[in-house]
This record gives sequence, structure tokens and C-alpha cells, in this order.
Amino acid sequence: MKERIAVYPGSYDPLTNGHIDIIERGFKLFDKVIVAILKNPSKQSLFSIEERMDILRETFKDRKEIEVDCFEGLLVNYLRKKNATTVVRGLRAISDFEIEFQMALMNRRIEPECETIFLVPSVHYSFVSSRLVKEIYQLGGEIKNMIPTVVDRKLKEKFKR
Ligand code: PNS
Repeated sequence: MKERIAVYPGSYDPLTNGHIDIIERGFKLFDKVIVAILKNPSKQSLFSIEERMDILRETFKDRKEIEVDCFEGLLVNYLRKKNATTVVRGLRAISDFEIEFQMALMNRRIEPECETIFLVPSVHYSFVSSRLVKEIYQLGGEIKNMIPTVVDRKLKEKFKR
């Protein structure tokens, strides 16, 4: 039978427990999930692509069904390259919906085979985002339980705490 492959694309700057929750849910539906970091030179990031790849690799080192990768350019081209037709995205709140809906339809317009599946994270993570996690950490706030231990360690290294 054909392997069901999904791509879960994102910036992952940094990976949060909300992302991990979505990846675990994706597993119930797909044989393989490719976690793909977008290389976007025009977007300023806290962690470099290499650092983000390291974080993902370390987090999923015991999970053979999870591939960690990065890509540039159009997502639909990357899907084709990986023999995948499904994009997984998390929907935390109504506010996510508009942009996600637009991206899903646009991706389908440029690649009719492309399907997007939205997964809803646990309510514990429905307010967690990489942007807020970074902001809170940099302002000295507590972000335990929102990020994996490897991200906690990398943040401490980066900010010498
Ligand atoms: O974690 P993010 O920043 O919300 O992820 C956004 C991402 C990477 C899914 C989106 O920006 C993307 O797919 N970029 C690749 C370029 C592309 O295909 N753009 C057209 C999208 S309709």
C-alpha cells in the first residue's frame, strides 16, 4: 500500500510543545510526517536554520517515522519532491483560520493535488506560539511546559542564563 506522507511546514523559531502536540496527532493519520522548516532569509529569526534543525532532530531522535528537513521556495514544490500531497497545519483559534484558509486554497490553486489538513492542539497549547514564547522568555517570564527541554537549554545557552 502507498505510504501516507504528510508535510508539517513552519518556521519553528523555536519548536513549542504545541507543535509537538500537532505532530503526535498527525501520526494517528499518516505513516510518516515530515517536519519541514522554511528557509526564509527575509524573516529575522532567533535561531538559525541549523539550530532549529538540531532542536528538531534532538527532540525526535528516537522517532524513525518523523523526518526533519528544511526547504526553500514554494511549499507545493517541496511536497512534490517528497512525494507528499498533504499539508498538516495546526489551528489554535479562529484568528488562525483566515490566513490558514487562504494559504490552503492558494496552495490548491497552484497545485490541485495539494490537500491541507487542520489539526486542533490540546487546549493546553491553544494559546502557545513561538512568537509569544520568545517574547516572554526575553522579558524574564516563565515558559516551562510550553517548550521541550532541548529548547529550554538552547534558550539558556543563547541568553547566557
Ligand atoms: O510557522 P509559520 O511561519 O506560520 O509557517 C508558514 C509557512 C512556512 C507554512 C508558509 O509561509 C509557507 O508555506 N511558505 C512557503 C512559501 C510558499 O509556498 N508560499 C505560498 C503559500 S500559499
